[in-house]
Amino acid sequence: MKYLIIYYSNHNNNTEKLAEVFAKTIPCELIKINKENMLPIDLGDYDLIGFGSGVYQENLSEKMFKLVDGLDLKGKNVFVFSTSGVGMKFYNKALINKLETKGAIIRGSFACKGAYRAEDFTDIKVFHLMSKLADGHPNDKDLLMAGRFIIDLVNSFEK
Ligand SMILES: Cc1cc2nc3c(=O)[nH]c(=O)nc-3n(C[C@H](O)[C@H](O)[C@H](O)COP(=O)(O)O)c2cc1C
Repeated sequence: MKYLIIYYSNHNNNTEKLAEVFAKTIPCELIKINKENMLPIDLGDYDLIGFGSGVYQENLSEKMFKLVDGLDLKGKNVFVFSTSGVGMKFYNKALINKLETKGAIIRGSFACKGAYRAEDFTDIKVFHLMSKLADGHPNDKDLLMAGRFIIDLVNSFEK
């Protein structure tokens, strides 16, 4: 089985930490989307492809959506993962919908909290308060959960 993870992580490398856990656990190839350039990616014979991103203003990176636009995903097995201040899976939904419209088969969704510096992007107090709840994430428990998620996913998928 061949696995590929494509991810975007530019604030605090939080999402990258999840990608690295996945890559150590299954193992798989990693592609980090750069800020500047997005290479065309040949999905070739990958059996499972993960798409991950931090959440920036209520959504996964627009670069991820643009990249997905250009991919041939018909019949491809995929999963989505994210890190965000609140750590909820609902942020994955828009990308999941997009992947579905491209003909991909959704195999899983994972999310956890990711620490952020509110002062980098907002004066809104609630973001500053909420940032305390995300401090230190992804932590050891988050990374353990990520490892379990990918093992369960691959096991269910390979049966
Ligand atoms: C510009 C910006 C906007 C953000 N907007 C949100 C948001 O709308 N909701 C949320 O829960 N977290 C938000 N966050 C927190 C990030 O999603 C979180 O820190 C994430 O782990 C960053 O991922 P990265 O380190 O992989 O880039 C935001 C962070 C930044 C820098």
